[in-house]
Amino acid sequence: MTERLAEIRKELKKKLKKERFEHTVGVMYTAASLAMCYKADMQKALTAGLLHDCGKCCPVKDQLMLCEKYGIELTKSELDMPALIHAKLGSYLAEHEYGIKDREILDAVTYHTTGRPGMSMLEKIIYIADYIEPNRRGIPGLEEIRGIVFRDIDKAVCLSAERTVRYLRNEGNSVDAMTVSTYEFYRK
Ligand SMILES: [Fe+2]
Ligand SMILES: [Fe+2]
Repeated sequence: MTERLAEIRKELKKKLKKERFEHTVGVMYTAASLAMCYKADMQKALTAGLLHDCGKCCPVKDQLMLCEKYGIELTKSELDMPALIHAKLGSYLAEHEYGIKDREILDAVTYHTTGRPGMSMLEKIIYIADYIEPNRRGIPGLEEIRGIVFRDIDKAVCLSAERTVRYLRNEGNSVDAMTVSTYEFYRK
């Protein structure tokens, strides 16, 4: 880990709740393992994994205020489903507070919750690392996805998007259009 990454890690330890920070570290190392497997850039995977939830530094209503303050435009589904907001806010903070200029890393943070059609390898790695990191439990399809992700990451992305859509529908929650698009893209 570079010195800068270690500094960011220290800052996040102060800003995130304990459980969120543990999850963050889990995502960071899971992303590094996936980067090894798929020959992606290790530093980028560590950086994106570390920062993916930096937008969760405060409660949702404060996240909304920060979006307004920084002029971050939110879509209707983000306003309807505030759990999505931290991804876009996180990407902004990664760039402007943590000094990350790499577009691929920033995109991986932006799309870590919903995915999107045609993701880069780094985007897929962060999307799936968020789903399967070791502290996760009780998530639909978790063991199955952990079992295939090191052989077929596209299939793992498809399964996790499908499980997310199915879970949200079963719970009577609304499903964001981007997660549905991710599922439809990776189903093929
Ligand atoms: Fe997240
Ligand atoms: Fe996360």
